[in-house]
Amino acid sequence: MPDRFATVSVAFNNDSQPNRNYDVAIASHSLKTLGEKLLEVGLGKKSKKILIVSNPVIYKHYGETVKTSLQNVGFDVSHLILPAGERFKTALSLQKIYDAALAHRLERSSSIVALGGGVIGDMSGYAAATWLRGIELVQVPTTLLAMVDSAIGGKTGINHPQGKNLIGAFYQPRLVWIDPEVLKTLPPREFRSAMAEVIKYGVIWDRELFDLLSQSDRLDQLRYISSELLQTILYRCAKAKAEVVSKDEKEGNLRAILNYGHTVGHAIESVTNYRLYNHGEAVGLGMIIAGAIAVELGLWSPEELAQQNAIIAKTGLPQTLPADIDLDAIAATLSTDKKVEAGKVRFILPTAIGSVTLSDRVTSDIVKQTLRQILA
Ligand code: NAD
Ligand code: GLY
Repeated sequence: MPDRFATVSVAFNNDSQPNRNYDVAIASHSLKTLGEKLLEVGLGKKSKKILIVSNPVIYKHYGETVKTSLQNVGFDVSHLILPAGERFKTALSLQKIYDAALAHRLERSSSIVALGGGVIGDMSGYAAATWLRGIELVQVPTTLLAMVDSAIGGKTGINHPQGKNLIGAFYQPRLVWIDPEVLKTLPPREFRSAMAEVIKYGVIWDRELFDLLSQSDRLDQLRYISSELLQTILYRCAKAKAEVVSKDEKEGNLRAILNYGHTVGHAIESVTNYRLYNHGEAVGLGMIIAGAIAVELGLWSPEELAQQNAIIAKTGLPQTLPADIDLDAIAATLSTDKKVEAGKVRFILPTAIGSVTLSDRVTSDIVKQTLRQILA
């Protein structure tokens, strides 16, 4: 068990630029101490200018706390509030960040603080990566998904009208600062869907996390999860992500395992026109399918698949697909997935709890057969 203040280090060991290493720090009520931490990690030595990027809901809850904390230690802070939602993860929003950076006269050693979920984090990260060819970036994630996934590991970007995350860069932050208290205002569906990513780490990387989730009674709402358990979940997920991206920052191979459940998940989202399921719900269904495919191919035990599915059930994530869903369309969508390489769909399939393999042996017949098993 980590202490109530837990730190995970993201370290790029064989790197010629050791200062790219950074900490993911997790501590309750830590938002108000962000300023001191930034001084500790060396920000503010040359430029005291900071731009906070957020959205109206998040800024209303937490903006002033963060701003005051930074001002108290001498930073010159301005903030930009962008409209909320994935549909604003655009070049226009990015332009607004650049405009604010210009207006606030950010310099190479100035910082952007991304205060928000994955949308704000990805956009602000990309702005930081590109403004003046790279300024300092601090991630302050406010959704469960951003805490366990998007704020860690350096993937930044915006959407193109033709597709999600098509424009972006790998750009690591200087610090990821997690205050679990902010999850108390997160809408329950956002919390539940991010639990899919939490379960993912248990299956692909961390048996201890998997066992912890298996032993928990209810995982569908934050109020059923003790602050100790939440802290441990955040810590173990951050550790898993840090270990994976430290070994393979630019997704040469290993990092692809983080897409467990996402291949079929994306296809389900797309075929249901992004209306029926949100991303995490589709990933949960994708894990049920990928797990069933692994069992079908003799790679995984039915017992462990059942354990995974029992955890998914406890989070309240959907476990079945509508009876009239178009299975052929799902199979067809899979072959146009962004992650298809040399015409082959690469599946991430579990072989044991905490361990996966990559396979391009999965035929569309197997996919459809397993999809049929979970029709309502
Ligand atoms: P999000 O950023 O859209 O936030 C979800 C909603 O929660 C928003 O409406 C937001 O206003 C609200 N919200 C956020 N924090 C809140 C809080 N503490 N209290 C109340 N409301 C709050 O969604 P998300 O799930 O965090 O992120 C999804 C995005 O992340 C997608 O764009 C996806 O592409 C990206 N992503 C990136 C990576 C990566 O590695 N960079 C990984 C996974 C996902
Ligand atoms: N969310 C997948 C990754 O960071 O690679």
